[in-house]
Amino acid sequence: MTPIRGSWRTRFGFYLVAIGSACGLGNLWRFPYVVGENGGGAFVLLYALMALILGAPLLIGELILGKTTRQSVMMATRELEKRSSLPFRWAGRFALLMSLVVLSYYSVIAGWVLHFIVQFMLGLFSTKEEVTGGLSVLMGNGGLQWALASVHILITLIVVAKGVQEGLERWISAVMPLFAVLVCLLIIRTMSLPSAPDVLRFLFYPDFSKLTFASLNHAIGHVLFTLSVGFGTMVTFGSYMREQDHAPTAGFRVAMVDTVVSLAIGLLVFPVAFQASNVPLTDPGLMFEVLPKFLLQIPGGLFFGLIFFVSLYLAALNASVGLFETIVANVKTSRGRNRDRSTAAWQSGALILGLSLFPALSSTAFRRLEWNNHGLIESIDSLLINWLLPVAALGLMFAIYRGMGEKALRSAFLDQDRLVSQSMYPHWIFLIKWVIPGLIALGLFLQVLGLLKLAP
Ligand code: PHE
Repeated sequence: MTPIRGSWRTRFGFYLVAIGSACGLGNLWRFPYVVGENGGGAFVLLYALMALILGAPLLIGELILGKTTRQSVMMATRELEKRSSLPFRWAGRFALLMSLVVLSYYSVIAGWVLHFIVQFMLGLFSTKEEVTGGLSVLMGNGGLQWALASVHILITLIVVAKGVQEGLERWISAVMPLFAVLVCLLIIRTMSLPSAPDVLRFLFYPDFSKLTFASLNHAIGHVLFTLSVGFGTMVTFGSYMREQDHAPTAGFRVAMVDTVVSLAIGLLVFPVAFQASNVPLTDPGLMFEVLPKFLLQIPGGLFFGLIFFVSLYLAALNASVGLFETIVANVKTSRGRNRDRSTAAWQSGALILGLSLFPALSSTAFRRLEWNNHGLIESIDSLLINWLLPVAALGLMFAIYRGMGEKALRSAFLDQDRLVSQSMYPHWIFLIKWVIPGLIALGLFLQVLGLLKLAP
């Protein structure tokens, strides 16, 4: 029996939530330093290409799975397993495991944002100097990082336990327009800095010699992460879509919006980073290092800074809510039991809180745990996003392709009103069948070569 699911009140509601889940710390915190690590323009081009030919098609696949089965990822893949007698439930389990682990370290970074909110609030009432110590205070205090992460987990839990419609739609519709306006205003400001021409060259003039063997996989991993693909999140959102909504069009739009947002954030962060020549572009703290200082230099900076970090926090919250929602929806129905929503939410919250202890103590108690010059939090990030996530996405995609069959997939593209969207199908299935598995395999292979130091 298909459980009755809530559905979005409007088509707009779906877009808000899906875009809200996609745009988050991945765009603001992760994108700039990954671009820095991979040398700029050529990587940006690779990233945009991957978003188009790999991220968008996979996102569409997940939405279709959710919309046709009306289930979240574990139950949906189990259904596919029954139909095809291939062990697809493992793809669902793997995706869910990814959600759990990612949310645990995502919460730590969201906690950093909370820290800056507090700093800006304090600064608003006393001196500017108090604000600038931001990141180093955090890095020296693992307990504080964990405490902040637990505040974030608690807030996420409360939003999710209240239920889909009220919880999500209201938050997101309030936040996104405000944040968009603020970011646009700040970009106008950063683009008038003297470093702007250098930044434009750095971001948009591809120098392919800067790419390394790992770059293709870094682009693939980041695209999957930023589009929330490979975690089952988009399956959950698809399961709440209305019958008349067209999953392929929706998925494509979400992917495009998210990509444009990332590029815009590049225009915001890099001019400031170039100006402050002492900050390495490859540092995961890049955004947190450069933006607060910049915000303090402009008139009304404390106020803008406060709005910026509050909006950033709400964006991170939306993304976390998406992940948490997926975990809860799955825990709730796992093993055929139908637990009540808030029990499932509290159980999941406790688990994530426990897991988040490791990344939270990365810069203190676990400081010695280094791998290839990377601390624990960066190593977890790299292991998850660059190695496991492409495999998770591939597993899910294979389950969708083989489990649903071409006939069902084709019919998900049918739309009486829009002939154009029907003609997407042959392109989509070609990418799913041939191009994407090939790209993921190639990316992983090149990354292994890089690891064996055969790379430059
Ligand atoms: N896409 C989100 C971001 O870029 C992160 C995320 C991953 C959210 C997976 C939900 C699921 O911040």
